[in-house]
Amino acid sequence: MSVTVLLLLLTLCAQGGYGEEKEEAQRPGHVSVVIVGGTGDLAKKYLWQGFFHLYVNQVSSGNTFSFYGGGLSPADTATPLLFEILKAVSCSKDISQERCALLKEQFLRLSQYRQLKTLEDYQDLAKHIEKQLQEEGMTEAGRLFYLSVPAFAYADIADKINGSCRPTSGAWLRVVLEKPFGHDLRSAQVLASQLVSSLKDEEMYRIDHYLGKQVVAKILPFRAENKKFLDPIWNKHHIERVEIVLKETLDVKGRIPFYDQYGVIRDVLQNHLTEVMTLLTMRLPMNLSSNEEVTQNKLRVISSILPLGKNQAVIGQYQAYKSEVQQELNKTKDHNTLTPTFAAVLAHIDEAQYEGVPILLISGKMLDERVGYARILFKNDIFCLQSHNSVHCKPKQIVFYFGHGSLKYPAILVSKNLFKPVLADGEWKEVTEHADVSVLGLPVSDYYVQTPTKEREAYAELISHIFAGRKNSFISTENLLASWDLWTPLLNGLSSSFPRIYPGGADNGDMLDIRLKGKDISYNSEVVIINPDQMGGTSANGFQVMQGKFRSDDMVSAWAEELVERLAADMQEVAEAAVRESGVFHLALSGGSTPLALFHRLALHHFSFPWRDTHVWMVDERCVPLSELESNFYTLHNHLLQHVRIPYFNIHPMPVHLNHRLCVEEDGGAQLYEKEVSSLVNGSSFHFVLLGVGYDSHTASLFPGTKVDELGERLVALTESPDKPHQRMSLTFNAINRAQRVALLVMGKGKHEVITQLSRVKDNPVKWPVTGVKPANGKLVWYLDYDALLG
Ligand code: BG6
Repeated sequence: MSVTVLLLLLTLCAQGGYGEEKEEAQRPGHVSVVIVGGTGDLAKKYLWQGFFHLYVNQVSSGNTFSFYGGGLSPADTATPLLFEILKAVSCSKDISQERCALLKEQFLRLSQYRQLKTLEDYQDLAKHIEKQLQEEGMTEAGRLFYLSVPAFAYADIADKINGSCRPTSGAWLRVVLEKPFGHDLRSAQVLASQLVSSLKDEEMYRIDHYLGKQVVAKILPFRAENKKFLDPIWNKHHIERVEIVLKETLDVKGRIPFYDQYGVIRDVLQNHLTEVMTLLTMRLPMNLSSNEEVTQNKLRVISSILPLGKNQAVIGQYQAYKSEVQQELNKTKDHNTLTPTFAAVLAHIDEAQYEGVPILLISGKMLDERVGYARILFKNDIFCLQSHNSVHCKPKQIVFYFGHGSLKYPAILVSKNLFKPVLADGEWKEVTEHADVSVLGLPVSDYYVQTPTKEREAYAELISHIFAGRKNSFISTENLLASWDLWTPLLNGLSSSFPRIYPGGADNGDMLDIRLKGKDISYNSEVVIINPDQMGGTSANGFQVMQGKFRSDDMVSAWAEELVERLAADMQEVAEAAVRESGVFHLALSGGSTPLALFHRLALHHFSFPWRDTHVWMVDERCVPLSELESNFYTLHNHLLQHVRIPYFNIHPMPVHLNHRLCVEEDGGAQLYEKEVSSLVNGSSFHFVLLGVGYDSHTASLFPGTKVDELGERLVALTESPDKPHQRMSLTFNAINRAQRVALLVMGKGKHEVITQLSRVKDNPVKWPVTGVKPANGKLVWYLDYDALLG
């Protein structure tokens, strides 16, 4: 009788193990578990323990197991290392010593080290598994590969598994991957497409160990179980703020080659904290165990988070970090690093339910304490005149406490002035004996406290889900890319920002305290420079703005952020003057990506802009339906119009889609728009026209080669672009040059060349269309950022 069969018999006789997971039905049989990177840190700390837990849980299930620790080192050196690790696995308290010894012995006998370097090594492993199956007459249930290796090795290993280690038909293949899943959106897309060429989506299990933490995994069930209490208050009218916080006391010594390339946002915020945020704010699925519904609802909420810009983040770096980097990366004393080890980010969800609710995501190394939690702080509209200690005067909050900190155990806490949460199953219990500690401003005794009946380690939990094929505790490709899509612009924006240096530990004092102002976040102790003398009557940052002449018109130049601030302020000034004089402000806006920063600025900072009296017109439009991504109107709507209170009837999209067709001359769309302009805009003279300049010097949709004369007195015309979509509708020079103020906004190094050319050429609108912009009675101002101006 073979070892495996003997062990199966032995274990069938053994009494129940710990953990009582409800596994989904799957064909029992033999399971081969391969941990690639089986002697590495993660495997040593969590994975082998997790697989031992799985083994203990499954011994009586009818499945048999083989465990392989794989690695690049040859077997003779790595085998003793592996067995050292295996010997350290432990049983839970409810298992007797004898039984534990027996189980460990079995586990060790079922485990072996294999060198997994070349394709032949993987082929040999496959042959070995097949031979064992044959010899012992076992049916194969599945193969589980856990890749605990650096991400750059994933694609190659996945390819080898696909090429040589697929299981026999009817059995499953599951490949588990650890973060980092990319470095930004592009690299995540590349990695995802490489993996997809070897593995099917359902075969990939991307781990975020936070989803295995008991409190995190309980968020959705808790929301469902307490729906009747939460439904009325889970919205902007009641929630004051959401905080998702992971504070750590340790530094990153020993991990610097990895960490210095990633930093805290990529290491923790993009994954762990984003996952918690989505669980808290996603629409509650009808069926919590439907992977598809959970994924779709998560996706929806991630994509409705307002764009994160530099004003939505503050970053820090602990003081000793720089010298640790110099040491670990073998750099000289003048080597600098901007990698943040602390970040606080302020997010907002663009959905009516959460409109205006600040969501804070905060994490850092070398802070004063180790604690992780998500707190939903509710508004308290009761004013207590005298008895501040009455329960109704205290903070109303729900805290999902991941662990550590003053409480020291994972728990869900609901302040007693909210409601008494439901205890739905035996896996959680109410804590009634409280230590004398406070949690986020309230003594524990002021909360209803629930904690898991049995604490389980996140990796062990997730390993049992992988084995059961439960996919909704893992990161789907779509969610991963949506999350990178959210974080990448912020990461790019911060890439050359200087983090605030903090000493570490309790000495940080109030240095990292933050302040929320509207949609912006800043350090509380930031020095604010307000010196009207320096500003020359302009914005607070006026001293950073340079004024001069460009092509004999006025020019304002600054770094992009200040430039946009200045343009937005100028626009508001013109708008207010127009409304004062004529009761209305007519604004014509261009498309493209350059104005986005301006739109965000207007939406997030200019609450007193006279939107009610503003009419918004389009400078130009692409001939695509207005609901398509490529449409200028669609972009304008998404980034500006939907965020401001402008009456719908003041919005004037261009009629590019008439009679179910796009920009057909006979449909007369251009004439229609022209008529609308002439009848609503006094003398067809817009108060403000915002233009940009293309690499070929086109402006509006007036491209090189456009016969300016042929357009004659027309205000609006159909034009042709060399780029797709070729057909456009555009204001003509005639319309633009009637305007009272024209702003030409040009930003980015990519535009330096065209700006240099434009600084030298004479007016020639056919060759250099933008040189045709010459307001007859109005004023033209160029807004050039330093990158465009100086290169
Ligand atoms: C890891 C990060 O994913 O999560 C670490 O790489 C961080 O930097 C850790 O310390 C936090 O996890 P936990 O379970 O200790 O809260």
